Amino acid sequence: MNIKRFAILGAVFGALLLPATFSAASAEEEISLPKQDWSFSGPFGSYDKASAQRGFQIYKEVCSACHSMKLGYYRELAGIGLSEAQIKAVAAEQTFPTIGDDGQPAERPGTPADHFHSPFPNDKAARAANNGALPPDQTLLTNAREGGADYIYALLTGYEDAPAGVKLGDGMNYNKYFPGHQIGMAAPLSDDRVEYADGTKATLKQEAHDVATFLAYMSNPELETRKRLGLRILMFLAALTCVTYAVKRQIWSDVHH
Ligand code: HEC
Repeated sequence: MNIKRFAILGAVFGALLLPATFSAASAEEEISLPKQDWSFSGPFGSYDKASAQRGFQIYKEVCSACHSMKLGYYRELAGIGLSEAQIKAVAAEQTFPTIGDDGQPAERPGTPADHFHSPFPNDKAARAANNGALPPDQTLLTNAREGGADYIYALLTGYEDAPAGVKLGDGMNYNKYFPGHQIGMAAPLSDDRVEYADGTKATLKQEAHDVATFLAYMSNPELETRKRLGLRILMFLAALTCVTYAVKRQIWSDVHH
């Protein structure tokens, strides 16, 4: 191999290795999230409906003041065990723009077929109300962030005083688990932030666990169906394997002796 070719090969290998070294370096800064027990993880997992309902109460009473959930529909609350009448009542608490009989803009109460009501008319209004920071839409938040529900839980319980020497920006808060540690959202939860409808004691951890369960459901409402289907497919394949094996033995039985 001549020198020129050798140099080219070297450059190619170098280029291939470079990203690997970079990602190894950034992995060192990665914040490790404490793992929680989630009812919905594992192949047989399903949503803890009571927890998800408490989480919805938190979303409704706390988070929805700032965060939208634009892709979610009220009717999806059936999946966490709300009755049709309850869903209708929840949706009807909000008003949506419509056109009146006189052809003029008017308002109508929400229905189960509506998307969740957004707290702000647009992102600019949301930033203006939040010191320039945009509260991200919560519909797919659990899927969009590495760590999913563990990240949401960690973030909500990860507020603390900034360590000595760390200077916080204006309106910023210190959070152990937020990338860069400075977050524009003040701690939204604390002990007894809500009074749970089902009488559960509302500790910070309980609230964080419940709202993370609810947000995980909103991000993946089809999870239970998907897992059930996966299981049925596996059972079918297992049965098919047995049948195929029996048929094979039958067909080859003459050949073997
Ligand atoms: C007073 C307004 C307000 C309330 C109430 C609020 N948030 Fe936020 N939230 C924000 C803002 C603003 C940001 C963006 C912060 C930033 O980017 O620095 C944010 C960011 C977040 C993030 C971080 C997303 C990311 O980028 O990784 C999560 C998770 C979150 N909020 C969850 C919640 C939950 C759950 C609740 C309800 C318990 C809630 N928030 C209540 C304003 C709010």
